[in-house]
Amino acid sequence: MQARKRFSFMLVVVLASLIIAACGAETPATTAPSASGAAAVSGKISLLLPDTDTTRYETADRPYFEAKMKQLCPTCEVIYNNANADASLQLQQAEAALTNGVQVMVLDPVDSAAAAIIADKAKAQGVPVISYDRLILNSDGVSYYISFDNEQVGKLQAQSLVDELARLGKTNPQIVMINGSPTDNNAALFKKGAHSIFDPLVAAGKLTIVKEYDTPGWSPDEAQNEMQQALTAMGNKVDGVYAANDGTGGGAIAAMKSAGLNPLPPITGQDAELAAVQRIIVGEQYMTVYKAIKPEAEAAAEIAYALLTKTPVNNASSKVANGKLDVPSVLLTPLAVTSANIGDTIVKDAFWSLEQICTGDFAAACATVGLK
Ligand code: BGC
Repeated sequence: MQARKRFSFMLVVVLASLIIAACGAETPATTAPSASGAAAVSGKISLLLPDTDTTRYETADRPYFEAKMKQLCPTCEVIYNNANADASLQLQQAEAALTNGVQVMVLDPVDSAAAAIIADKAKAQGVPVISYDRLILNSDGVSYYISFDNEQVGKLQAQSLVDELARLGKTNPQIVMINGSPTDNNAALFKKGAHSIFDPLVAAGKLTIVKEYDTPGWSPDEAQNEMQQALTAMGNKVDGVYAANDGTGGGAIAAMKSAGLNPLPPITGQDAELAAVQRIIVGEQYMTVYKAIKPEAEAAAEIAYALLTKTPVNNASSKVANGKLDVPSVLLTPLAVTSANIGDTIVKDAFWSLEQICTGDFAAACATVGLK
């Protein structure tokens, strides 16, 4: 009895001293940040996105960026502008943001080369610039670049198309290439990646690129006109279409439908736009490239916050040359998506839910491709 009491007493003493020690260790850690004013951080961040024809900017990039920023810095203000594919409007928006006193700028340039002026102006005012999704060329005012492996995007699109044409038994198929905007550095990278797959086949006489277009402003209407021209020139004989994104792919599909092509030839895309995912399910579009925009937008917000608070940035492990400097970069991995893996990618990530994809008219097609 005595021994047990002594043991209990000692246990209480040991536990009490452990608790006191733990409290003592924690106190400075929890009070220090508020004492140093971390909770009081505030600031203005400019987010400049390039176009409205492409749905990702309003449905994903902007809301994911703003939500992450709010979480990191509840009292910060995000000043948002979309340039509607107009480089001079974007310049005005950027100048207005600088006049407004933004401390960090996140810029997805309409024109990768022309945006050097914006980054130079920002630098002159001591405002760091994050080059978002598209690289800003020839400026040393770019602090970070966040994007995907964009050449790989073009390779995935081209390889998927080549594989599908082979599966359909096409020998020396005739394809049309509908590339993106000639002022977007990404469009050049998608095109380069795609050509790295197509060109050896063309040289070997196994593929013919009958028409190729660059599409100003990534406009779906322009893409529709381009496809119409190609169809007229080829007497509607098209075996496949390389479209650089879902918007241009949608334009090309509209042109082929109104020319009466049935079935439609395989056509590529990019962005996993809801309308494109639904076209894939019903068999109007062959594939898209899914780029998980949430981690892209969140990485941008994290880096913007680090720049605002002058704390180290830890996740920019690559370097990409922009003509003036090697920009510390975060490069994410794109994925090819067909009806076979929508569930394992887009739905699994909650990029789109089954309820959003498989609405009314699409419910039966979802069941056919095993999406439920
Ligand atoms: C983006 C694509 C987008 C295109 C048109 C590119 O720079 O990477 O995701 O579809 O611009 O806005």
